[in-house]
Amino acid sequence: MRFIHVVGARPNFMKAAPVRAALESVPGTDQVVVHTGQHYDASMSAVFFEQLGIPEPDLNLAVGSGSHARQTAEIMSRFEEVVLQQRPDAVIVYGDVNSTVATALVCAKLGVRIVHVEAGLRSFDRSMPEEINRVVTDQLADVLYTPSLDGNENLRREGVPDEKVEFVGNVMIDTLVRLLPAAEKRVQGTLPAQYALLTLHRPSNVDEPVVLSSILDTILDLSAGMDVLFPVHPRTRSRIAALGSRFSASSRLHLLEPAPYLEFLGMQRHASYVLTDSGGIQEETTYLGVPCLTLRENTERPITVTNGTNVLVGRDMQKLRAELTRVMQSGTRKTKAPALWDGHASERIARSLTSRINANLEATRANA
Ligand code: UD1
Repeated sequence: MRFIHVVGARPNFMKAAPVRAALESVPGTDQVVVHTGQHYDASMSAVFFEQLGIPEPDLNLAVGSGSHARQTAEIMSRFEEVVLQQRPDAVIVYGDVNSTVATALVCAKLGVRIVHVEAGLRSFDRSMPEEINRVVTDQLADVLYTPSLDGNENLRREGVPDEKVEFVGNVMIDTLVRLLPAAEKRVQGTLPAQYALLTLHRPSNVDEPVVLSSILDTILDLSAGMDVLFPVHPRTRSRIAALGSRFSASSRLHLLEPAPYLEFLGMQRHASYVLTDSGGIQEETTYLGVPCLTLRENTERPITVTNGTNVLVGRDMQKLRAELTRVMQSGTRKTKAPALWDGHASERIARSLTSRINANLEATRANA
């Protein structure tokens, strides 16, 4: 059995690592890792391969940045050649980035089996490029592995047959569980006693100077007396630079380079609270029991709100103020990890996938 794993952007790496490792122990499997090159800075890519223990990608399509159409099209035309040459039994795609949908489209046209890990999540907000990527990928996929049962409900509503869908849990939590001890060690003695952790990269938060400066002003104002550690995405760094020196010169707001996986996990673990517009960080803070205020109007991960520590504050700075005050006074709520966020999701995927493909091969032989 030959599998191709497609990775392209930072949040893919921690999802692919455990699935690849779990399939490694299945005899007779051959695995190829294809990096589309959507993220290419060493701090956004290479360092994750190193820390997560993923071997160098077998192929790098080096597509780089571009408009959505251009980036998607480049990935498609370069990936088509790879599929024709490698002739995989299945292509495994992760999450909701442009690399995910582009490669799924190629496979659908070539009749190659698509496996989507982290299927079924919906924000119901089609102004987000990721939502388009999720909906399209799930319509094309042959096997869909969901991290939570809301995913199964969403897929049923969209007419995806039940037999294609399996609830396996959260593969990103597999990586967190495995590497938390190493992350703790890595940050020991390096962090302030008390701090907030901030990440921002959504176009809706960072592309408009007025919006970005109002978010940063509110955070600075509210965190008086507390350091704010802010590992900055390359996209956001250029936007902050355009705002002038007001934020880069602040003594409380620490603009850092994008953090590697272990350092960032350690920073989350010990933060008083996390402010973010990322998807994955909502899940990681829920697992860690660290309060998370999400600077978005909606989330495709509602279980982090119902079962976890996540509160959506949107771009309502009054709400952000109120929630921050509440968090600082009451600390975190007691939470329990959502079902099957247990460090074993990838093993369930490896078992399911091998038995599905074997069944398929047997059916093909019987028909021959
Ligand atoms: C992408 C994903 C988003 C994910 C995020 C995590 C899509 C549609 N978006 O957004 O879902 O949450 O990754 O980081 O796939 N850049 C660099 N170096 C890099 C990568 C990007 O400088 O290695 C800069 C470029 O100016 C680029 C911009 O960041 O134009 C945006 O990168 P892009 O990959 O288009 O989207 P992200 O915002 O990173």
